[in-house]
Amino acid sequence: MTPMSDVQRVLSGIQPTGRFHWGNYFGAIRQYIALQDQYEAYYFIANLHALTTIRNAEELRRNTLDAAIDLLALGLDPDKAALFVHSDVPEVTELCWILMTGTPLGLLERCHAYKEKKAKGLTADAGLFTYPVLMAADILAYDSHLVPVGEDQVQHIEVTRDLARSFNHHFGETFTMPKAHVLDTSARVPGTDGEKMSKSYGNTIEIFEDPKSMRKKVMRIQTDSRPMEEPKDPQTDHLFQLYSLFASDSEREAMAATYRKGGFGYGMVKKSLADLAEAYFATARQRRAELAEDRDYVLGVLEEGTKKARAKAGDVLGRVRRACGVAWHA
Ligand code: ADP
Ligand code: TRP
Repeated sequence: MTPMSDVQRVLSGIQPTGRFHWGNYFGAIRQYIALQDQYEAYYFIANLHALTTIRNAEELRRNTLDAAIDLLALGLDPDKAALFVHSDVPEVTELCWILMTGTPLGLLERCHAYKEKKAKGLTADAGLFTYPVLMAADILAYDSHLVPVGEDQVQHIEVTRDLARSFNHHFGETFTMPKAHVLDTSARVPGTDGEKMSKSYGNTIEIFEDPKSMRKKVMRIQTDSRPMEEPKDPQTDHLFQLYSLFASDSEREAMAATYRKGGFGYGMVKKSLADLAEAYFATARQRRAELAEDRDYVLGVLEEGTKKARAKAGDVLGRVRRACGVAWHA
């Protein structure tokens, strides 16, 4: 039986496949931080997922620690949220297997990460194909109610719900039904080329990018070649969308009015964006530098987070094992 309790849990995972970018921050990380105040929070660095793309041990190790430092620098508070590394909670991989036995292949064939790779004629491995099942295990292992993510992950949460529903149907109410939590205003942050910002498109600006190089990237954001004097619609402009992420309401309004009036250069918008972005992450940058010098502190946070996560995942796994009968001696 699912536990009857008032506690609401939030959970999310983020892959350490490279340094985090603005899309990761505004689409996901910012939500992690906002939600840790109201929920029992679990956040993890999804190194087992990253293994489907990173095939270099040193790089994966380095990225994993960097991801932890980044999240703490950005405001994840270890007193409020359990922060841990995916592979430190082996309960989840057993749960993944159990879920896998009830996963229809058709469900996975429809998932976009696999479909896109196949459409490009690339060979997909079983890791990529079954990735959504591991993600379902990640979510269900903590009785998660809410899963903050960017829009691209919503399909995986639907898969999670399907698998939970089907298990509950076969074996009795076992899993808590999770819900995706997507922010309307930043569900899809554009990259420097106007497409979705993503590591795989090479159009990212990193959160902790050196300010000079950040400025260079901002100045290279692609814009159209309409004449300066022409009025422009701010809503359809990706430069304006990026500017809006960092701007206050009044700054955004003023910039929108400038767009509608016309008679401005994109260079001015870019410079304002770079100034705002630099100021926005200045405190986190400072904090990051301090944390990078205090590896023991970071390792201690992860150890504590792991304890909390394993306790919860162990409880849920016990419930699952009893429900489906693999706890044969019970
Ligand atoms: P990437 O596409 O760069 O590899 P990930 O897939 O690792 O990024 O995404 C980590 C988290 O950040 C996910 O919750 C994802 O939905 C969110 N995210 C990534 N890119 C964006 C974006 N451009 N806009 C909004 N959210 C994003
Ligand atoms: N698949 C997610 C991504 O690429 C990362 C992830 C793994 C995740 N497990 C999760 C997100 C569980 C939310 C919940 O961004």
